[in-house]
Amino acid sequence: MPDPVQTLTFARPDDWHLHLRDGQELAAVARFTARRFARAVVMPNLKPPVTSVDAARRYRERVLAALPPGSHFEPLMTLYLTEGMDPAEVDRVAESGFVCGIKCYPAGATTHSEAGVRSLASCAAVLERMQERDLVLQLHGEATGKDVDPYDRERVFIERELAPLVRRYPRLRIVLEHVTTAAGVAFVRAQDTGRVAATITPQHLLLSRGAMFEGGLRPHLYCLPLLKRESDRLALLDAATSADPRFFLGTDSAPHARAAKESDCGCAGVFSAHAGIELYAQAFEQAGALDRLEAFASFHGPDFYRLPRNRGTITLVREPWEVPERYPYGAGELVPLAAGGRLDWRLRDTGSSA
Ligand code: NCD
Ligand code: ZN
Repeated sequence: MPDPVQTLTFARPDDWHLHLRDGQELAAVARFTARRFARAVVMPNLKPPVTSVDAARRYRERVLAALPPGSHFEPLMTLYLTEGMDPAEVDRVAESGFVCGIKCYPAGATTHSEAGVRSLASCAAVLERMQERDLVLQLHGEATGKDVDPYDRERVFIERELAPLVRRYPRLRIVLEHVTTAAGVAFVRAQDTGRVAATITPQHLLLSRGAMFEGGLRPHLYCLPLLKRESDRLALLDAATSADPRFFLGTDSAPHARAAKESDCGCAGVFSAHAGIELYAQAFEQAGALDRLEAFASFHGPDFYRLPRNRGTITLVREPWEVPERYPYGAGELVPLAAGGRLDWRLRDTGSSA
């Protein structure tokens, strides 16, 4: 057996799905992402949601103001699709230079999705215009409704909504956000247009649903979409490590205060930005595919979004470290993914983040 690799230097990655929140919570978490990633798609599910380019411009300024001095991090904004959105807003997105897509939350699917979409049919004019302007639609791909079992939501969404959408708008570029099932992976692979891609989170690569109940209920592993079966996890790992350009990194790091998660009705979301690249290195190494990490983390995303690949690099060194149990979070605290556990790869600062 050759000695394991001790150092990994590769093109600086981007996070194509991130929740940064706002105010003092934003101030608490932004530095984690800015240290590792050159860019991130900043999700718009604030309260109230970010539904216009003007609101996205103001939010972007708040994100920039929350970064550590000297940071080169670039927030890529996205708008929250509502049924009332004017197609003219799509033109403003296309001309903005800083909004990279529009995010669709089915109403009731997840945190702050109440203002989301009840029926994609009522967004036809916006979707039409997005296709014309070649803008990316980011989809939270879960069916809602009491008739759908929580573990079937992704598969049912694909059957009822995504498959017809792809047929109706064959030129629309779509990211199936945080894909979690073998069915989702198979759907993306079956599209040969190059227009449908998917992001994959670290928790869905590392854990299956048993982890949420191991030794008791683990509220910090509750996220949406839920962790799935081991067979789903293996399908995701295969997709992420297969060098298929349709799969790329999106942490879905979604911080919630500890008190809001350790509650009789806890919030969905896993915070992973503290180790947003290290966790993927862990998963890729377990799969014997460290050599595939760079393409997944740093190339496939910008290629799909038609943005330049980053020129700077980051370096990970094999220096196991213990993940803190908590991080400060505004007036409260956060319990990160892998809290109190050990990660094998540590980030070394290399200066340039351009
Ligand atoms: C996200 C959040 O908290 O904003 N939660 C989650 O479990 N992923 C919302 C989302 O992306 O679904
Ligand atoms: Zn999310």
